Amino acid sequence: MGTLTANLHAMMAAFYRPTAERFKIIIEAKAFPSDHYAVTSQIQLHGYDPSVCLVTIAPRQGEATLRTEDIIEAIQKDDAIALVLLSGVQYYTGQFFEMEKITKAGHDQGCVVGWDLAHAVGNVPLKLHDWQVDFACWCTYKYLNSGPGNIAGVFVHENHFNDKKRPRLAGWWGNDKTNRFDMAPLFRPSEGASGYQISNPSVINVASLMGSLELFESATMPKLREKSLRLTAYLEYLLITKLQKKHMEAGHFEILTPSNPEERGCQLSLDFPEKMLTIFDALQSRGVVCDERKPTVIRIAPTPLYNTYTDVYYCVSYLEEILDQVFA
Ligand SMILES: Cc1ncc(COP(=O)(O)O)c(C=O)c1O
Repeated sequence: MGTLTANLHAMMAAFYRPTAERFKIIIEAKAFPSDHYAVTSQIQLHGYDPSVCLVTIAPRQGEATLRTEDIIEAIQKDDAIALVLLSGVQYYTGQFFEMEKITKAGHDQGCVVGWDLAHAVGNVPLKLHDWQVDFACWCTYKYLNSGPGNIAGVFVHENHFNDKKRPRLAGWWGNDKTNRFDMAPLFRPSEGASGYQISNPSVINVASLMGSLELFESATMPKLREKSLRLTAYLEYLLITKLQKKHMEAGHFEILTPSNPEERGCQLSLDFPEKMLTIFDALQSRGVVCDERKPTVIRIAPTPLYNTYTDVYYCVSYLEEILDQVFA
């Protein structure tokens, strides 16, 4: 349904119900800007002050990624947190959070726990039901290849399936299919996530997503993950063996993404304190499709569905050639 940020709003309309005792939302200090805007505006819509209600968590001084224990501590130390809303895979660093542990910590503290899975879906194994996630939202135009701005998705846990009285941003597509076309003014929601749909979706968008999902289904996520672990490990291996001495130790770049394969998906984020855009342009001009995130990061994400070990080899060879020139 909808698009990612719109769906975050739809989910927060239903699951962020601030009270005098619990009114805060916890997010990452470096959450994707759209998530910051959505959360801030939700807090304001309820008449609360974001400078009090928006709690952000940042990595420790000198560290690039968040420690699970610090996330859990931030949740545990504040009784006023109503909603924990984090990303499954952090867009800037590529860190894959320990979703099950964090969700449990949020629940133990009495919070609702939701996840932005933009960079996680189609990338890492997800067991949202087993992990007791309350809700999750994602877009389909990253690893799911549906095309920019295409239809997105939501997950609502079965625990909330029969919660038909939960206030929500209702629309006719969320009405029970059996009587949707009765055209009655009274909203009767479908069970679960379907009951949160608002409008009828674009057929063209759905068809293009379907084409991609069929490929995922035949490839299967476990096999994709298996290849992904190897591809990204190969990328890391080449970066370290070819570039550590010459360029990493000289401070030209470092890898921000955790080295533990369980804490990452396909993506490695390389941090170039200087000349990031020059290096990025040079990679692009050699046909390497990667991505720059200001201020200093290039994200390289070999995806198992269509990238090869040879692609990874060429990518690092080109990077070596470029760095040798830039820092000659
Ligand atoms: C982590 C994350 N959240 C939210 C968004 C916003 O997505 P949309 O424009 O589909 O609402 C993006 C887009 O790249 C994203 O990466």
